[in-house]
Amino acid sequence: MSNTDISISREQGVLALGLNRPGKLNAITRDMYATLAREINDANADEEIGSVLIYGEGEDFTSGNDVNDFLEHPPTGDDSPVWHFLTALRDFSKPLVAAISGRAVGVGVTMLFHCDYVIAAKNSKLSMPFVNLGLVPEAGSSYLLPLIAGHHRAAEMFMLGEVFTAQRGYEAGFINEVVDEEEVAVRAGERAKHLADQPRTAIRETKRLLREAHQQQLTAVMAEEARLFTAALGSDETRQAFMNFLMRKGK
Ligand code: COA
Repeated sequence: MSNTDISISREQGVLALGLNRPGKLNAITRDMYATLAREINDANADEEIGSVLIYGEGEDFTSGNDVNDFLEHPPTGDDSPVWHFLTALRDFSKPLVAAISGRAVGVGVTMLFHCDYVIAAKNSKLSMPFVNLGLVPEAGSSYLLPLIAGHHRAAEMFMLGEVFTAQRGYEAGFINEVVDEEEVAVRAGERAKHLADQPRTAIRETKRLLREAHQQQLTAVMAEEARLFTAALGSDETRQAFMNFLMRKGK
């Protein structure tokens, strides 16, 4: 299956995956999740690919899950495209790089916790408004963010759900570099290529060593988050919050 809402290019050992729905702030649909999952899983086995770079086409990274999709086709379990994407991220054995600018909402932030290198534009506006929508964190973020940033910063970002800056993400420990907006793409390309050029076995083993102690716990937390998230999606509170967003837009 191909999907024009994901730009795909392979150059110099780097697989670049661009979220490409700028008219909808790159909100991610089921088809996009399916394409991302397939590409990431294929890259794992592809000897030509040394690293993967995820970025957003246009001004924003992503406004997160497509709200229409979530209302019409709520993910129900292990067969859902969003779950395939999240487990592909979790299990990817090569360096994963993200380049963000503009809006990064929900999964647009939580996917960063699975990355090995994150470059953010100074203009980035990040948020994880799960609680505000009556939801719980996903993608293993309720485990990974406290691990990276400590309980208090994680609690602040999740429980208040407020917008925060790239600098704050850098201080919290999940953004490696904050650069001017016009430098993000070039810098991310350079870093992804550098990582792809590193000795392949050594870098895979290093990634495995960095993560191995946490993989079992991460898998357990992801399953529990998914159970709670799916239940919350059917709640009146969440459906109302999504409807309010769509009605605000006159949909
Ligand atoms: N799902 C579906 N459509 C979305 C979307 C999403 N997550 N985020 C933005 N869009 C669409 C809007 O409906 C709008 O479409 P339209 O021009 O056809 O009306 C377009 O993208 C531009 O978004 P808009 O809301 O007008 O931009 P804004 O600058 O006023 O607000 C946000 C930006 C991010 C604050 C706002 O779009 C938002 O709250 N989006 C939803 C975020 C969200 O809840 N994500 C899911 C988390 S689980």
